[in-house]
Amino acid sequence: MTRIRPLPLAGLLFGLATCLCTLAQCGQPGEAAPSAGASLAAAQHPKPTPAGKEQGQEQEQEPNPTVVPERDQLKLLLSGTMSGRLEPCGCASGQLGGLARRMQYIGERRYHDVLLEGGDLVEGNSPLDLEKLFTAVTILANMQHPYDAMGIGEKDLELPYEQWVGYTAGAPFVASDLACDSPDWPGKPFVEKQVRGRAVRIASLTLALPEQYRGEDSRIHLLTPLAGYERAMQGADDDAWRILILQGTDVRARELVPTLQPAPHLVVCCDASYIEPTSRPEMVAGVPIVYPGTRGRILQECTLYRLPKGPRAALELVPLAGSLTVPGGGGDPDVKQVLLAHRNQVKEDGLLQKMARQLPTPNGAGYVGSETCKTCHITAFAAWQISKHSHAWETLQKAEADPKRYGWPVTAYPDCVGCHVVGYREQTGFVSFEETPQLAAVGCERCHGPASEHAMSGGKKRLGLHGGVQGSELCLQCHDYEQSPTFVYGERWPKIAHGLDK
Ligand code: HEC
Ligand code: HEC
Ligand code: HEC
Ligand code: HEC
Repeated sequence: MTRIRPLPLAGLLFGLATCLCTLAQCGQPGEAAPSAGASLAAAQHPKPTPAGKEQGQEQEQEPNPTVVPERDQLKLLLSGTMSGRLEPCGCASGQLGGLARRMQYIGERRYHDVLLEGGDLVEGNSPLDLEKLFTAVTILANMQHPYDAMGIGEKDLELPYEQWVGYTAGAPFVASDLACDSPDWPGKPFVEKQVRGRAVRIASLTLALPEQYRGEDSRIHLLTPLAGYERAMQGADDDAWRILILQGTDVRARELVPTLQPAPHLVVCCDASYIEPTSRPEMVAGVPIVYPGTRGRILQECTLYRLPKGPRAALELVPLAGSLTVPGGGGDPDVKQVLLAHRNQVKEDGLLQKMARQLPTPNGAGYVGSETCKTCHITAFAAWQISKHSHAWETLQKAEADPKRYGWPVTAYPDCVGCHVVGYREQTGFVSFEETPQLAAVGCERCHGPASEHAMSGGKKRLGLHGGVQGSELCLQCHDYEQSPTFVYGERWPKIAHGLDK
């Protein structure tokens, strides 16, 4: 895993769509993680290559890109919905992504004309999300490789307005269909830059507003997509590149794109259900639509060509497994400093405690701790005690103490803690190791739900599973494609199997 771009020449294969596609998929560095993720994405979108037929026919006679004048080519680096993933969590080996690796990659390549980030930098409205937003904006907009455009998603707007505005000031946020009277509103109708004597005009449509902005007296108003697009393209050179970021589903993109005038040359659709970026554009009404995926694990490098028949896009995927020059990973050292400062700040601000116990428990009862179950469930307790779940807190403590692996306060970082304890964020749940040591580690009640009433009633009040989900669904809340890329319920359950005493 020393190289992260397996196919430096893939761009030259433009025109042989199937060839490019097959190679780009098989040629990824051989970690399990990306292919497991890729097949997951494929399973979620078993689409019969939309518009593939049209594309295949057209691409057969595509000219060689080396004869397309430079001015008619544009090189974009795309990423979609980041959802607060500043760094991979490190729970499994070979995890992809992270801003430190991304910025290092950009610095090493230095050939991108346009750096473009989709919307929804964060995925919630907690104090941690706010601090992540601040950190992400610092890295993406204010460091050595500033981004050209960033979309605004519906989730971004769920953050408290004043803080959101304060943290995003000066960053190249685009929201063509959002109108706001406040002078401090950072969402511009468009951004524009010059590349080889030609303007690149970038628009973004948010398409929806969260609940708090839907009233008549809301300070933000949603324009129709057509009005938003028109506003963004007003006064643009006829000759300009027109790029549109869409915060919406693929279905919405396919409906909308044919109605846009003048047609965009590229649509970047931030549909968060595309976990992995697509390796081939979808052609709709002559416009290439690309899906950059989520979490910034795999970047999408897009070369846009302006041909007599219209725009064409060639894509290459860049799995962020490490650096090109630093063996074993690396990552931009300055970005790493900013991330470290963020983590220390989270601890200093006591966010772990502040965010605890904010939500109701699923069954209204309280958490009591695994020791309470021991008296009545001797064999289940014994099985749990030898499972790794009972050591999940210790694992965090060890990780924190090991500077080679982490060396930063992971036991004070809400994301890490949430999956390694019982009932974090819920009433009566985990607060901190000092305050609630009985709830550290993945105890019985993380899976079965709060058991105060069950225990008091001597087992008469039924318990079931937390939130009433199926066993296999429950596991995936933590064992997802990043934490446990090879997780199969039927194989892992036997390792923790337990039940009623006979
Ligand atoms: C709250 C999050 C969470 C849930 C839910 C969860 N796990 Fe885990 N699981 C963990 C953590 C964290 C570890 C690693 C603990 C350590 O090594 O310290 C782990 C480790 C394991 C391991 C040992 C490592 C391995 O893969 O061999 C198995 C097996 C396992 N889990 C199975 C399951 C099964 C089956 C379910 C569903 C019934 C489940 N887990 C649900 C968090 C969870
Ligand atoms: C979405 C839930 C989730 C989050 C968030 C999470 N973990 Fe984990 N973690 C897991 C699971 C599940 C495992 C077990 C993976 C396995 O063995 O299959 C695990 C395993 C681990 C391990 C043991 C890995 C090994 O090599 O033995 C460490 C260390 C760890 N996590 C640290 C962290 C840290 C630090 C963070 C925050 C940056 C974090 N985790 C965030 C679910 C999570
Ligand atoms: C990682 C999640 C997880 C943890 C931790 C866990 N369980 Fe379970 N438990 C399950 C699942 C899943 C089942 C199977 C439920 C089913 O098949 O409907 C189960 C089944 C049971 C059953 C049998 C239920 C029945 O109806 O047959 C009992 C009793 C039980 N667990 C008690 C405990 C106790 C006590 C602890 C802690 C010492 C514990 N569990 C820890 C997930 C967990
Ligand atoms: C005072 C004794 C007692 C305590 C304490 C107790 N249980 Fe139970 N539990 C029982 C009895 C008895 C049953 C069997 C009920 C039945 O067969 O209908 C049972 C059944 C269960 C079941 C399977 C049926 C169901 O309700 O889903 C689960 C799961 C379970 N217990 C989990 C736990 C957990 C987790 C704890 C600790 C937080 C716990 N129990 C504490 C007595 C207890």
